[in-house]
Amino acid sequence: MGGFDFDTVIKRENTASVKWEQVKQVFGQEDVLPMWVADMDFNPPHQVAEAIRKRLDHEIFGYSFIPDSTGEAIQNWLRSRHGWEINPAWIAYCTGVVPAISTAIQAFTEPGDKVLLQSPVYHPFFHMVEKNGRVVANSPLILEDGRYEIDWEQFEARLKEGAKLYLNCNPHNPGGRVWEKDELVKMADLCAQYGCLFLSDEIHSDLVYKPYVHTPIASLGEKYRDMTITCIAPTKTFNLAGLKASAVIIPNPKLRKSFQDVQAVNGTAALNTFGIIGMEAAYRYGASWLEELLQYLAENIEVAAHFIKERLPVISDMKTEGTYLMWLDCRGFHLTEEELKERLWKKAKLGVEIGSKFGPGGEGFIRMNIACPRETLMDGLSRLEKAFS
Ligand SMILES: Cc1ncc(COP(=O)(O)O)c(C=O)c1O
Repeated sequence: MGGFDFDTVIKRENTASVKWEQVKQVFGQEDVLPMWVADMDFNPPHQVAEAIRKRLDHEIFGYSFIPDSTGEAIQNWLRSRHGWEINPAWIAYCTGVVPAISTAIQAFTEPGDKVLLQSPVYHPFFHMVEKNGRVVANSPLILEDGRYEIDWEQFEARLKEGAKLYLNCNPHNPGGRVWEKDELVKMADLCAQYGCLFLSDEIHSDLVYKPYVHTPIASLGEKYRDMTITCIAPTKTFNLAGLKASAVIIPNPKLRKSFQDVQAVNGTAALNTFGIIGMEAAYRYGASWLEELLQYLAENIEVAAHFIKERLPVISDMKTEGTYLMWLDCRGFHLTEEELKERLWKKAKLGVEIGSKFGPGGEGFIRMNIACPRETLMDGLSRLEKAFS
């Protein structure tokens, strides 16, 4: 391993950590090992805390604006990591990707409109549609040889039925798929044909393992640029969820104005002082840290996949192309949702997500967050074995 330490187990108690300190509420008991909510048990690149500490020393925390340097850091990041040339003027800032999705739903659809998604998928996609009084139009993914594929007939049918906005998750949480260029183009072409806007949630886009490559749909030419809303954030990449900062890239000025008008109405365009500083430092200085993180995560995935293959062969192998979330197909055990909870949460005290939370198609799966030191991972894997023994 290189210069960064991902092996040391860092205690996260007494930091008001959702992942570690809300296990009692979520799993019903105290001593559960949390491998659920998507944050990592690693320190971020040290430059983040250094930049925040420097600002902290000033002690006056008045209203902050987002300086040009932040947009430039994001522009450079997207160019060097993903070959996508953006203009910083295209960025609308938001306190997270979930609030950005909600804002987009309000800006680009009317109550009662249909919003297209593909289950199983990150559960707030459903909630944001429904809580905004819109209707979920679901085109479930198809599982073929442990890999999710798009059901093109269903996808087009939902568009024909009038979906106004499509929520794409790339890379896909929880399925771990990194959508290929051809798939993205075909989806976007169909959306364009039926007048549906394309929202690309790319919050996991920096967490992609070789040989897979992330393609920002908006980087593929003017047609795609003009119909897309792309959400990125330092949240997953650099483990900064608590800083609540995201960037919503909307090249089309009309769409951007609609989005920002909703933000103005709700008073949600400003970011927290530390969110701005942390986001900029991460994108500016985090590249070498990320390279090593990706190596560590890839090894964790390999270790876990090997363990499961050897000790728990009933669980089918799903390839994790991107994200640090492993989606484990436990349908071979023929257990109900309640039985899965009983075995995993109660018997083995392993805090993993039960797949049905991610909508139709998630039943019988579990989602395990492997972004932790190897020691913690091994503890989690032996609990997994215990659950099914
Ligand atoms: C696909 C996806 N989008 C959004 C989020 C959360 O975004 P935020 O915390 O910025 O609202 C997550 C977190 O797990 C996610 O997996």
